Amino acid sequence: MTVAIPPNVSLQAEVVTRPRAVDRLVVGQATTDGDGVKLTRVLTQDLQQRLDPFLMLDAFGSDDAQDYIGGFPDHPHRGFETVTYMVAGRMRHRDSAGNEGLLQNGGVQWMTAGRGLIHSELPEQEEGLMEGFQLWLNLPADRKLCEPWYRDIQSSELPEFTTPDGVKVRVIAGLSHGVPGAEQRERTEPLYLDVHLPPGASLAQAIPAGHNAFVYVYRGEVTVAGEANAADATAVPRGHMGVLENSASADGVIVHSAAGAQLLLIAGRPLREPIVQYGPFVMNRKEEIIQAVDDYRAGRLA
Ligand code: CO
Repeated sequence: MTVAIPPNVSLQAEVVTRPRAVDRLVVGQATTDGDGVKLTRVLTQDLQQRLDPFLMLDAFGSDDAQDYIGGFPDHPHRGFETVTYMVAGRMRHRDSAGNEGLLQNGGVQWMTAGRGLIHSELPEQEEGLMEGFQLWLNLPADRKLCEPWYRDIQSSELPEFTTPDGVKVRVIAGLSHGVPGAEQRERTEPLYLDVHLPPGASLAQAIPAGHNAFVYVYRGEVTVAGEANAADATAVPRGHMGVLENSASADGVIVHSAAGAQLLLIAGRPLREPIVQYGPFVMNRKEEIIQAVDDYRAGRLA
């Protein structure tokens, strides 16, 4: 399953001379959502300002069907985008805009909720491993009520490359080593990479200084070098998020793994707008949340 690099793109090295250090290590919180699905909430509400434009990151992973079989029956969203990355497993999506798709092994579903829709995400397997992530990306105030939009990206369509050091990078959004990701967003400029580091390998990735950024390690352990020297590197173990510092002089991040690791590297341009969340609705003002709840109850999101 390699789409690999589009034919007109050549791999470019990323130059990072002043890497960002880890500002803060965060352990995900175990919780349940939907119909009893066990998951780890990695990016929680108290980090929404710090990691603007990202609102939430959930990680799920279990080979016990009891942990996921209930799935996420019909529920609404308004005001942001959801990006679901399925590492392993099969999940069926249906929404009130008439979209339906099967999200499976290595595929991505990108949904812009905009003014609102109601959808379900239900497992299409009764056993075996289900593992993946759901990231919530905010919409700018003037786009929160846009038309809903949806795209299924099969694993074979996801741009992917391998560096000379053997690091495999899957580019869900943004640009890495000259390779454009499956989706781009003009205002939030999200970078969303799934990075597989073999033992002893490193990856450098440029990130604009003003963007908020973090890594989430889901296999093994990585170290993130700071500007000072390698001895200052911070270890980010499995199941942890390393929030990267926002130094005005920093130009990127360098991740390394002695024994091999897999991680998400996520960055984006902050919107710097007020954030008001009530469950599945994320708006700028309380009155807009009240409106969203009214619209949902009156059947105007369907
Ligand atoms: Co949903």
